[in-house]
Amino acid sequence: MKTLITNAVLTDAGGTRDGKVLIRDGRIEKVYKPGSRIRAKYDSEIDAGGLTLMPGFIDTHSHLRDPGLTYKEDLTTGLRAAVKGGFTTVTAMANTKPVTDTAEKVADIKARAKEVGLADVNQVCALTKDFGSRECVDFPSVVAETRSISNDGHNVDDAEAMAEGLRASQEYDFILMCHEEPETETVVRDIGLLRENGGHLHICHISKKATLDAIAEAKKEGLDITCEVTPHHLYASGLEYRVHPPFRTWNDRRALIAGCAAGTIDTLGTDHAPHSEEDKAAGSPGINNYETAFGMYHTVFSKAGIPLSRLSEMASAKPAQRLGMKAGLIKEGYPADLVLVDPSEEWQIRPKAFVSKSHNTPFGGDWILGRVHKTIKSGQVVYDADAEEPFNPIKAEKSEETEQETQA
Ligand code: DOR
Ligand code: ZN
Repeated sequence: MKTLITNAVLTDAGGTRDGKVLIRDGRIEKVYKPGSRIRAKYDSEIDAGGLTLMPGFIDTHSHLRDPGLTYKEDLTTGLRAAVKGGFTTVTAMANTKPVTDTAEKVADIKARAKEVGLADVNQVCALTKDFGSRECVDFPSVVAETRSISNDGHNVDDAEAMAEGLRASQEYDFILMCHEEPETETVVRDIGLLRENGGHLHICHISKKATLDAIAEAKKEGLDITCEVTPHHLYASGLEYRVHPPFRTWNDRRALIAGCAAGTIDTLGTDHAPHSEEDKAAGSPGINNYETAFGMYHTVFSKAGIPLSRLSEMASAKPAQRLGMKAGLIKEGYPADLVLVDPSEEWQIRPKAFVSKSHNTPFGGDWILGRVHKTIKSGQVVYDADAEEPFNPIKAEKSEETEQETQA
């Protein structure tokens, strides 16, 4: 099956250019320069109508609430919201019920996400059993299912557990993703532990200038540390709306935006955290971000003069690199995970129109810049804003094995 995408402006971490993209069997087969003759035959054409084609967004941080908290979100509603937001891969944190803390639990979520057929789920496993204080998960079995480990939602208070996690991240080659509370103090502790123990550390949702300064210094030392920032910490400061970490000062926010421009912040992580109205009223922290993330990032970046190619680097190329995926660029041989956006379209956030199961955001009514029109997963349009039925899941192909099982 071959599809040709025409009339698109191509933007990825490498910059912006015109061109056409030929997709074959879920991969980018060829990227044509403008004016080149296309001899290849193809089965279908997607006329982008002048929209901008970017690599699908790869989220380094979110909460899908499945299993156990599915009244807030489930894999189907969460992944619908994700593709509506242009995400083709999302990283789902382990604070489910029960806590995702074994290889079997990770495998179960991955299998069910695959059945939904919209976006890939990079399912995270907890660092400690049931998010307890000291006993780490069984790393050898877990790393067969995921390379992302985190107790997100909770700080790792016990320095010994943290040190063990860092050593294991080195030995078993995974990324330890950390929610740091209190933020700067714990990041400083963890940089010390990284220096002593080695390892691969990713700091989740940084929100303060002092944190970023500490991470920038650690990078200069050559430590393997990366960090992410959320849409809401870039977009707003000083709000009372409850989220962890909280909204900070304008000075912090300005430093985070500068960190995106300078490259000291590596990835964009939505921290999509759906909550029901009741839970939110009772004080649950979090913001529902998938459907507005791109517009929020792009609104901030364009005001600050940061090009869309840098947004793409932070939303796709760098997350892929950190998560060990060969993806996130418009490049021959890469997966045809793509998104068509209109970077100049302004639209209004209407929480009631979210396809997520929850609607918790303080930004309802805001006008933001940049809208997702189509999301393409493995060469198939899985979300089309302009279609009567916007969601078009990939039908799971039965593997030979399962077919034999069915026959038996
Ligand atoms: O605001 C947040 N919500 N921060 C977190 O760390 C956890 C998340 C959640 O799970 O709701
Ligand atoms: Zn967190």
